[in-house]
Amino acid sequence: MKKVILTGIRPTGNLHLGHLFGAAQNWLKLQDSEYDFYLEIADVQALTDNYNDPDKVHRNVFELATDLLSLGIDPKKTNIFIQSEIGEIAELTVFYSNLVTMARLYRNPTVKTEIAQKKALFGTTGESVTYGFVGYPVSQAADITAFEGELVPVGEDQLPLIEQCREIVKKFNSIYGETLKMPEPYLSETPRIKGLDGNDKMGKSLGNAIYIVDDEETIKKKIMGAVTDTNKIKKDDPANPEKCMVYYYHKLIKNDNLETVCKECKKGTRGCVQCKKELIEKMNEFLKPIREKKEYLRNHPEEVEEILKSGTEKAKEKASKTLKDVKSAMKINYFE
Ligand code: TRP
Ligand code: SF4
Repeated sequence: MKKVILTGIRPTGNLHLGHLFGAAQNWLKLQDSEYDFYLEIADVQALTDNYNDPDKVHRNVFELATDLLSLGIDPKKTNIFIQSEIGEIAELTVFYSNLVTMARLYRNPTVKTEIAQKKALFGTTGESVTYGFVGYPVSQAADITAFEGELVPVGEDQLPLIEQCREIVKKFNSIYGETLKMPEPYLSETPRIKGLDGNDKMGKSLGNAIYIVDDEETIKKKIMGAVTDTNKIKKDDPANPEKCMVYYYHKLIKNDNLETVCKECKKGTRGCVQCKKELIEKMNEFLKPIREKKEYLRNHPEEVEEILKSGTEKAKEKASKTLKDVKSAMKINYFE
């Protein structure tokens, strides 16, 4: 049996260059590896935050699937599936919830940070923090173990969730007997992608992202507003490209003219407007095949649906086997 790699992503918006050059690079590599690769569209998890906006989550499931396929996730190599379609995950979540204390959940650094962010954002006292939200690490442990995930590709911010999953696995196996696979985190080597404003992280909430679905007009506006070396005031002032986001993106998309950009910037023979125009052109070229694929899939939604359906079927098969083992270990298999 092939070992399983499993990861998940919440359907809350379109993918941006941070995903494309970050996590997705890793996924594209993994789908060509010797592992069986499961990619979960974590709609149940997205609902822990967005339970009052079901339209948004629904729309984004298809939008995200289309984005993933557009940037090269190949359904022949990757099982893309929808979390809510696998009822087994919800059942496992209930069983695991006995194995985790409230104190432990509140101490989980990822949950803690997210609660603090919510308070900062909404100015609440924390009373609006739901049971489902605080418990989402338990549900994520079910995501991972349902598929016998051994390696879990995640960013650093997710490490406490994998740790929580490992604790659940350990406790489960010690009480009910060796049943669940112990997962390991698999940290990506890709560095964080910076935002248009120079922020260390590109993110939706930061408003500094270039999306893979941005049209040419949007790309133009965004790049024209990107942060450059603030010491350069006049067109022919020499500048430091390392302090410039325009140069950063020239580098990121591997502009073949990079050396010239760097030299001319340092010498002061290149104006920022010209430099941005060049980036706009190259960025559009870079995004073209992705946009075309996206456009094609938008016009063929039945293909996306089919891919999700068959990925989900395969995932369901695997999860139902795990659930069976879990129930029999817990002696709740009455009619067998
Ligand atoms: N929590 C992850 C995130 O917000 C998404 C996720 C859901 C996940 N289920 C998972 C990641 C299982 C790894 C394994 O990005
Ligand atoms: Fe940045 Fe180009 Fe201006 Fe140099 S010339 S500061 S690289 S935009």
